[in-house]
Amino acid sequence: MKNISVNIDNIKEFATINEVIELQNEINSNHKSLMNRTGKGNDFLGWIDLPGETDKELIASINQVATRIREKAEIFIVIGIGGSYLGARAVIEALSNNFEFLRNRDNNPLIVYAGQNISEDYLSELLEILDNRDYAMTVISKSGTTTEPALAFRLLKNHLENKYGKEEARNRIVAITDKSKGALKKLADNEGYQTYVVPDDVGGRYSVLTPVGLLPIAVAGFDIEKLIAGASEMQRLNAVTSSIQDNPMAMYAAARNVLYEKGKLIEILVNYQPNLFYLTEWWKQLYGESEGKEGKGIFPAGVNFTSDLHSMGQYIQEGQRILFETVLSVDNPKNEVKIPYDEDNLDGLNYLAGRRVNKVNKMAELGTTIAHIEGGVPNIRIEIPGINEYYIGQLIYFFEMACALSGYILGVNPFDQPGVEAYKRNMFALLAKPGFEKETEKIRKKN
Ligand code: PA5
Repeated sequence: MKNISVNIDNIKEFATINEVIELQNEINSNHKSLMNRTGKGNDFLGWIDLPGETDKELIASINQVATRIREKAEIFIVIGIGGSYLGARAVIEALSNNFEFLRNRDNNPLIVYAGQNISEDYLSELLEILDNRDYAMTVISKSGTTTEPALAFRLLKNHLENKYGKEEARNRIVAITDKSKGALKKLADNEGYQTYVVPDDVGGRYSVLTPVGLLPIAVAGFDIEKLIAGASEMQRLNAVTSSIQDNPMAMYAAARNVLYEKGKLIEILVNYQPNLFYLTEWWKQLYGESEGKEGKGIFPAGVNFTSDLHSMGQYIQEGQRILFETVLSVDNPKNEVKIPYDEDNLDGLNYLAGRRVNKVNKMAELGTTIAHIEGGVPNIRIEIPGINEYYIGQLIYFFEMACALSGYILGVNPFDQPGVEAYKRNMFALLAKPGFEKETEKIRKKN
């Protein structure tokens, strides 16, 4: 079976392949630091061996709980933010029908999300919908103290208890959090919720292959064993070699850093399949939160082609030359649609009759790549044989490992996120949260 692979032929006009290969020593030592757990943030490397070591009993338990939820709920709410939200959504949306919300809901709950914003309209509209629907939910927070999911959970728990009574509500909530600490753990223990643990040594944005991602993905009806099998294959491949030419994760990490050194400060992840939108969102979080620190880091952006060729396409072609693109190039879509012949041919499309829509999409991809290279935008291509659990699993591990290698090349700790505290401090000060009295006084004087 083919694996996902990386093609850097289209960076040649901007950087030589030799310049990429010159990073081999650095890659070797970073790879070694990761595998031997000796580098920065080494207490958060549990994700490296995770796929191959996933406990069979855990999988069985998650599948069992998921089946129970699928039988009783029309809607399943996933409450979480950042790494406790994006991984599950990325996988579910990638694998789902593009029109999932219109499909029959028999034993197939619609997955909706909460706790990823603080919009009163969003929450109020969700609560209104839930008045007339059967639902269940999971609340996911590694720290167990994050404000956004805690607030959403308080509202939804209240609604659920009013609707079903406390006893039945308990059967409809699954908590995923730390094994021993945090407000959510305490609440889950007090209420007796079904609980899964986020391992200590796996940070939020690297946690999609723990119950954080696996439970929602299983409830959505996807095969989590195949997802893990795909990730395990990448884990195996990475463990065998750190050679840039043989390890696609090493190649991607090296190539993007060479381009960064040449002033390409923004990386745009490009997809031609709308159901990869949230994969891009997950990737943006993974790379943005892991690398953007100490005044360094490639800025991760995303576009959805061909839609955005009619908006951002102009900037990419002719705007500031600080961009490079990484294309998620899918070989085989899940479905086949042929373009019909039309007697009148008023739209002039008969030259395409009998050909697959995917052929047109592929030519749009090639044409765009050529145009953007000519416009000064280097192009890395990630070749994905198809969109299914196995290849999405490969892609997850691929991006996680490449991100860790890349962060080490930059010289940062890819496993912390000190910068996200600043907004929280101000928000708590402005809301006069107990314990933040000094900050409240300070911020009120200034603003
Ligand atoms: O990657 C990370 O660590 C963060 O994005 C977290 O996942 C996010 O802040 C949510 O944290 P928690 O799961 O503790 O609620």
